[in-house]
Amino acid sequence: MKIRFLGHSATEVEGERVRLLIDPFITGNGVCPVKAEELNPDVIILTHGHGDHVGDTVAIAQRTGALVVCGYDTGEALAAKGVKVHGLGLGGKWRFDWGMLRMVPAFHGSGMPGCHPAGWVIHLDGKRFYHAGDTCLYSDMKLLNGVIEQPGIDVAMLPIGDRFTMGPEEAAIAAQWIGAKRVIPIHYGTFPGVLTGTAEAFQSEVAALSGPEVVVLKPGETFEL
Ligand code: NI
Ligand code: MN
Repeated sequence: MKIRFLGHSATEVEGERVRLLIDPFITGNGVCPVKAEELNPDVIILTHGHGDHVGDTVAIAQRTGALVVCGYDTGEALAAKGVKVHGLGLGGKWRFDWGMLRMVPAFHGSGMPGCHPAGWVIHLDGKRFYHAGDTCLYSDMKLLNGVIEQPGIDVAMLPIGDRFTMGPEEAAIAAQWIGAKRVIPIHYGTFPGVLTGTAEAFQSEVAALSGPEVVVLKPGETFEL
């Protein structure tokens, strides 16, 4: 599994049989090293309806025919724009021929009427990856640590920018609770003066808790699992 961070929350995940694109905020994302036209996903996965997550979804899906997986109500809105969608509800999962997706809660705004924001657990090529979306710290994150996910998460992407999501201190606690082997900070450094959390602060908070390995990816960098 190759995880390429594109800045903010946007992430490309390449498996043996599929290319996934999560929260493709590309146009207007000042740190993203690629153009929306350069991305060719099979599946686009959305955490919620805010513009800095839906981003270029409609244009990319229309051009590539990618399936958009998202909350059911968000999907209704996107289907009206001629996009192929596969909606899920919180707590649900779906097996595709390339792997499995589980939709888990995120506590945040929705950006589109009627849809609760989400995080996603992705089972791909025998590995488990969690993208937390935009969320606060919440104690049911512990369920990913061997309760609903066994044997647990291999790598987790956690927002650390603060103000709209967890900051470094809370995200370090989340890293403990999730029990992921590795954590990658996201949702920071994109809106200067707005998102105040830094990767350095996150690293030191995680270290103070003797937490998991922190993998800091610059936009455009890839981590291979
Ligand atoms: Ni948001
Ligand atoms: Mn956001």
